Amino acid sequence: MENFEIDFTYFINPPSLRRRPFLPPSLVDACDTTSEKSIKLAEGFPNDANFPFKEISVLLKDGTSYRLEGEQLATSLHYIPTKGYPPLVSTLKDFTQQIHQPPYWSQRDVLVTVGSQEAMSKVLEMCLEEGDPILVQNPLYSGIAVVLAPFQSTLIPINQDGNGMVPDFLRQALNQRKKECLLDRQLKMPKILYINPTGANPVGTTLPLDRRQEIYRICCDYNILILEDDPYCFMNYKDPTPPSFLSFDIEGRVIRLDSLSKVLCPGLRIGWVTAAKPLTDVLELGIENCYLSSASLTQVITYNLLNGWGVKGTLNYFRSVRDDNKKRRDMMLQSMDLHLKGLCDWSVPDGGMFAWIKVRDIPEVQDMLLIRGKKKCVTFAPGRLYMVDSQKTCSYIRASFCRENPKLIDKAMQLLAELILEEKALLKAQVEKAQ
Ligand SMILES: Cc1ncc(COP(=O)(O)O)c(C=O)c1O
Repeated sequence: MENFEIDFTYFINPPSLRRRPFLPPSLVDACDTTSEKSIKLAEGFPNDANFPFKEISVLLKDGTSYRLEGEQLATSLHYIPTKGYPPLVSTLKDFTQQIHQPPYWSQRDVLVTVGSQEAMSKVLEMCLEEGDPILVQNPLYSGIAVVLAPFQSTLIPINQDGNGMVPDFLRQALNQRKKECLLDRQLKMPKILYINPTGANPVGTTLPLDRRQEIYRICCDYNILILEDDPYCFMNYKDPTPPSFLSFDIEGRVIRLDSLSKVLCPGLRIGWVTAAKPLTDVLELGIENCYLSSASLTQVITYNLLNGWGVKGTLNYFRSVRDDNKKRRDMMLQSMDLHLKGLCDWSVPDGGMFAWIKVRDIPEVQDMLLIRGKKKCVTFAPGRLYMVDSQKTCSYIRASFCRENPKLIDKAMQLLAELILEEKALLKAQVEKAQ
């Protein structure tokens, strides 16, 4: 196949189709092809001589060190192409190709982004028009809900069970929407499905392969793009991790978002988008028009790190982060067994950073956690922040096992048990007073 056959313009909103590059192609071409000897007055680059840095050194915990100097230092302090620092882009391309082996690789491209949050935001900005519907998993990562709010999007929730999004629910929701669209010509069909397939935030589910394949087929049937936001793909605790949507995307309808935030560090702000070229071309213009490129310095640092490790070393490092988080998850589960049995229900998170805990007999936990929890010096995230319908009462709690000291996690679970017992007493007193 020479090109993907779907009409990508159907997914791109009119303002994004009107985007144009910062510089006319003829000027870019002239700058690119002039010889070293030519006098360059066309560019808007400031003078390197006025940059205050002489050298930037990086020392890793394993004792390896490297220095940014000379040409690499200059590049790391200058404007770089919107797609990203070229050696990093090519490293991320090789990595993506080796891990996911996407079909029709030559028809896809990779763009470096400021983490996956920015990528998600830019993709939605490229595709959505005000009021457009979007399919989302429920519960969902709260970071996408805030990106959707300004678009006044209609969120079509697809509920998850212990194995993630349920394909039958997706099909039913689309059938239902189709019927509604026939009755009301103003309504539109959704064009995008947002999904966290591995270690979903906040529920910790990992979608099995058969569900991934079925969801993919449904999206093909209804002409829907899949926004595969997968920052926890290297934090899956059950081997093997199922193949990504990208790895069997024969139609070019997967926009995959990767991130180094959870497996290296979020401060680098490095993520990348892999998608069909007609989509990355417009995304690239969106990024260029907005901030030219993500920070050069962290891209150069990341390139040196990943290049020094190679694919094998990088995967080994990610594995060590995963193993550490798995140990922490198990310690949190032990503490929950000890303190919360009989008060709460939960399932073992398959991946990611969070336990998703349902409190028995307390329909709404927000005030208990945020007001009374604060007095006990403990914080948990109230589940309603992650529900599509955030107005409904919600008895779920999200608890992170990744960062806090295990002894303090144990203390937190003990405090949560106290909070729940006190809350129950409070509710009982309120009922008695009302009678
Ligand atoms: C599901 C999900 N997507 C995206 C992000 C944003 O990550 P990044 O740091 O790559 O922007 C997060 C961060 O918590 C997340 O949980």
